[in-house]
Amino acid sequence: MKKHSIVIAGGGSTFTPGIVLMLLENLDRLPIRQIKFYDNDKERQDIVADACEIIMKEKAPEIQFLKTTDPKEAFTDVDFVMAHIRVGKYKMREMDEKIPLKYDVVGQETCGPGGISYGMRSIGGVIELVDYMEKYSPDAWMLNYSNPAAIVAEATRKLRPQAKILNICDMPIAIENLMVKILGLKSRKDLTVRYYGLNHFGWWTSIMDKEGHDLMPKLKAHVKDNGYAVDFDESGQHVDESWKHTFEKVKDVYALDPDTLPNTYLKYYMYPQDEVAKANPEYTRANEVMDGREKHVFGECKKITANQSTEGSTLEIDEHASYIVDLARAIAYNTGERMLLIVENKGAIANFDDTAMVEIPCIVGANGPEPITQGEIPRFQKGLMEQQVAVEKLVVEAWEERSRQKLWQALTLSRTVPNGRVAKELMEELIEANNMFWPELN
Ligand code: NAD
Ligand code: G6P
Ligand code: MN
Repeated sequence: MKKHSIVIAGGGSTFTPGIVLMLLENLDRLPIRQIKFYDNDKERQDIVADACEIIMKEKAPEIQFLKTTDPKEAFTDVDFVMAHIRVGKYKMREMDEKIPLKYDVVGQETCGPGGISYGMRSIGGVIELVDYMEKYSPDAWMLNYSNPAAIVAEATRKLRPQAKILNICDMPIAIENLMVKILGLKSRKDLTVRYYGLNHFGWWTSIMDKEGHDLMPKLKAHVKDNGYAVDFDESGQHVDESWKHTFEKVKDVYALDPDTLPNTYLKYYMYPQDEVAKANPEYTRANEVMDGREKHVFGECKKITANQSTEGSTLEIDEHASYIVDLARAIAYNTGERMLLIVENKGAIANFDDTAMVEIPCIVGANGPEPITQGEIPRFQKGLMEQQVAVEKLVVEAWEERSRQKLWQALTLSRTVPNGRVAKELMEELIEANNMFWPELN
């Protein structure tokens, strides 16, 4: 098997060590000759990179390692760009969450005004990565999970239509892992699913085991009373109290359409007031992450570097991130694996905008994804998706045309925002807060 060269863009991410450990665990499935880290914040990346260098020396000394903030060095001679950047970092996530809450509007990383604000920052950052890749390694593929994936995917579709970029989200994967626990099965790979929607905005319509047995009735019986909450072990990504609440709240989202099983993120659109009521405007998820995951990961990295050894380290393999290896393998070895990806609709959902970026099952091979048709969708979901996709498209148009008017329309159209007046006030405050990151609007 060919050995691959990978650049991780956003080398300083809290997820980088878990992903590196996961890549090292999967070397028999995806052989690697070189790993590079790229970030535009040298100091932050150094903390993670110096520890990861030691991890690699211990586990796979044959892999070449390089950390850099120079795009040419980073993007030359690579097969895959694994991208997880956060433009504006947690400081700006905190603003995205806290500013809307001042107006009693949902304050969330990827949904509502927070997601729009993050989108206006991310578009430029991700487009820049695409351009570096095309310049220095034109045959490479970008596996992107930088958020907000819905807006980022629409931006690359529109502004870089030829780019070899695959947009993927781990939420359906995490939920399917919970489903497997609810069902008492072993692995997510035992499931064959049908699903449609937008990113962080979708529904399962069918879940079968490999023999073709319908698993929806058993799942629905559980979800009706408990959402996706299960007694699960306390390791992994989605284990904080706030995530537990999210999995429980699925029960209320499910009640709105008992024919399907919903993505967790729909709660922000179906029950925005409930989310505002339970939020602490002084201490949001960004604070929880800075005090939790960021402190832990960076603390462990510093320890590893100080000791020049990983002995006693509590950094964990990000097991659920092995979907990234599955995706890279699908491209590299033409495996034809069936995966949920965010792709241009082009008729896959028959009664929906052909140019929308939708999240649906695809067969992935050497030429990229082949979407699986999902037929016609019901009026309820179609109505919601029409509104949400218009928000996402308006944000990309606002960024491209530097249009304040379109941004105001996007905010007004979001189900999470009550009216045009609040949308306007919110917009003015978000413009102020993002002056270092957004293009200047006219
Ligand atoms: P983080 O802030 O710890 O890491 C992001 C890194 O990106 C930082 O080191 C930052 O300096 C760097 N960065 C910012 N702008 C950059 C640019 N223009 N060029 C290069 N590097 C840049 O954030 P995190 O919490 O670890 O999350 C990282 C990203 O992964 C976020 O976008 C997050 O939303 C996303 N994420 C996505 C999924 C998914 O399902 N798609 C799952 C988890 C996390
Ligand atoms: C899920 C979503 C990601 C999102 C993450 C946030 O995994 O799919 O898109 O970035 O949750 O998690 P956090 O722990 O940073 O709040
Ligand atoms: Mn996601």
